Amino acid sequence: MEPGPEIRGSASGRGGWHTHAMANAGSAPEAADPATADPVTAGPDPAARVDAWLNGAWTLAALAAAAEGRPLSREHGRLLFAAGCAEPDGDGWRLLPAYRTLLTGPSGPSAFPRRVARQLHQAADAAAGRDGHEEESDAALLAEGAASGERMGAFLDLLVERVPGFGDLLEESGLRFLDVGTGVGAIAAAVLDRVPGASAVGLDVQSRALRLAERHLAERGLGDRVELRLQDVADLSERDAYDLAWFPLAALAPDAVERALPRVREALRPGARLLTATVLRDDPAGDVREAVVRWRMSRSRITPWGPEEAARNLAAAGYRDVRCVRTPERTLTLVTARAP
Ligand SMILES: C[S@@+](CC[C@H](N)C(=O)[O-])C[C@H]1O[C@@H](n2cnc3c(N)ncnc32)[C@H](O)[C@@H]1O
Repeated sequence: MEPGPEIRGSASGRGGWHTHAMANAGSAPEAADPATADPVTAGPDPAARVDAWLNGAWTLAALAAAAEGRPLSREHGRLLFAAGCAEPDGDGWRLLPAYRTLLTGPSGPSAFPRRVARQLHQAADAAAGRDGHEEESDAALLAEGAASGERMGAFLDLLVERVPGFGDLLEESGLRFLDVGTGVGAIAAAVLDRVPGASAVGLDVQSRALRLAERHLAERGLGDRVELRLQDVADLSERDAYDLAWFPLAALAPDAVERALPRVREALRPGARLLTATVLRDDPAGDVREAVVRWRMSRSRITPWGPEEAARNLAAAGYRDVRCVRTPERTLTLVTARAP
């Protein structure tokens, strides 16, 4: 399930490595030299650039290890100070307020170290030539689900603003929602919270995810409004059954997407909407963030479509009225389309 709209191209989740932190991440605080430590400005010396990248990874680890308010040891604090993330505090060090805020984040203080640790694990697997599909803990799945549910709430508001007729759809009594790759059910829950008379079907290929979804939805009092099914979306065989479908390109393999798109179209009522999202751009040349995300996606067998490619493929699969909607998250674009 990694990466998805949930994945961030950067460790901060806010669109890019913090250049000041990187610039000062020299091999020892007293040796830090911004001119040689920043991979961007390190010049053509490959060894200096590699050194700077490695120091960046360690700086990130130090930042993650400082989340959840753990006290900073002398050397840990010195590294974060040298990286521009901490300041002296009596005999010790403390994180700068901006970093305390970043590490706390909307999903709580354990989310940042978890995300960083997962990406560093994945990077270590890639470096060692391992496939490395590690299982995520229940807590991690629930936290990711909560974050994606929150985002879906914000997406719905944006779509009501930007897409003619979307607001009317959410007013429909008895709206039927299809949540593809439901995970812990948080996206279904966000839609049902927003549309009081709605009901949903959540599909997932992992029974473990569905067990978590069952518990999560019951805790939110939504258990009787969501039918959970252990089913690959590529095997969907309903017709004219849904008014809105969430189709997470970022969680689905290319072959599943190819088989599923016509089936979801058939499962939508005429004029009903499909909604998907992409964290990719259409013109990635030379952009390291984009290249990292695409490599991670290909390693995880995830469909790597930018907005225009998604729009083209939806049109080719028989969808109409395809629209791309930029979101305030710089790197995320929503794509909507209607069944004919
Ligand atoms: C990123 S996770 C879901 C996050 C979700 N929004 C939540 O609230 O937890 C994506 C899910 O898609 C499921 N999935 C992947 N391929 C699928 C397929 N072909 N059909 C149905 N579900 C699939 C995965 O098992 C995984 O649980």
